[in-house]
Amino acid sequence: PSETGRVLSIQSHTVQGYVGNKAAVFPLQLLGYDVDPINSVQGQVLNGQQLCDLIEGLAANDLLYYTHLLTGYIGSVSFLDTVLQVVDRLRTVNPGLVYVCDPVMGDEGKLYVPPDLVSVYREKVIPVASMLTPNQFEVELLTGLRITSESDGLKACNILHAAGPSKVVITSLNIEGKLLLIGSHQKLEGQPPHQFKIIIPKIPAYFTGTGDLMTALLLGWSNKYPDNLEKASELAVSSLQALLHRTLEDYKAVGFDPQSSSLEIRLIQSQDDIRNPERRFKEDE
Ligand code: ATP
Ligand code: PLP
Ligand code: MG
Ligand code: NA
Ligand code: MG
Repeated sequence: PSETGRVLSIQSHTVQGYVGNKAAVFPLQLLGYDVDPINSVQGQVLNGQQLCDLIEGLAANDLLYYTHLLTGYIGSVSFLDTVLQVVDRLRTVNPGLVYVCDPVMGDEGKLYVPPDLVSVYREKVIPVASMLTPNQFEVELLTGLRITSESDGLKACNILHAAGPSKVVITSLNIEGKLLLIGSHQKLEGQPPHQFKIIIPKIPAYFTGTGDLMTALLLGWSNKYPDNLEKASELAVSSLQALLHRTLEDYKAVGFDPQSSSLEIRLIQSQDDIRNPERRFKEDE
């Protein structure tokens, strides 16, 4: 592996618990990245103008060189429009800037952002994203396809490549009681993408922050292995699964029923699994 980088991560902050930047910054730092977090929510919600002001502050000090921009949950069209301006701005400083976008809109059939965000993601964000990490519901929203099989997922990736990002990872498809990750890397425009899947046994519990952590790990590893998205995905899945099992065991050890509420991930306790994942989830051809 080579190369690390400097990541601007625009995500929410929680005082307690691990979602948004709290789930993304620490693992990226462990993987050797310099990470500059902008907290889009910290109790109060940052608006588009305030984001602009922060970017202007960096610009005034000549600090706008980033290798990566990472975004997750965004709660309004005006903020998302400002993020688009940030992408342009960062690319004037570094035309090679990689924009990793988790198009957080909902899960399991439920939308948890204002509905007018969907078309902004479709029409303006997808075209400028380098890598996209939607879940099943988000892929359906972005492509208009109903995804009920692996081949639907692969088709959806092709549609997304045609719209912009060369790397797409559908972080989970729920198919016949199993979780399927689908990855797709279009190395050359106009050529068929390299596609793969990873089967992930479903743990009978509900965790928070897994999507945010997953996208951070995918950024971290795919930058270290830029031509090998499946290896990057295997490493990300391996870290995450080790962490989820640790989380489950910790809750069980204190007599907590893991199905009674959602579990807070054991992020700090899993730092060795983040730094040096054991590759237990190999690509399934
Ligand atoms: P979130 O629901 O946190 O927003 P997401 O829907 O964007 O996340 P998911 O695809 O649900 O993303 O989860 C990301 C990763 O977390 C999956 O690839 C999978 O590896 C892991 N994961 C989440 N929940 C479970 C579970 N119950 N069992 C096994 N793996 C899980
Ligand atoms: N709440 C807030 C404020 C968030 O930003 C997020 C995700 O970014 C969540 C909850 C849910 O986290 P996840 O979907 O990763 O479980
Ligand atoms: Mg999910
Ligand atoms: Na996701
Ligand atoms: Mg998510």
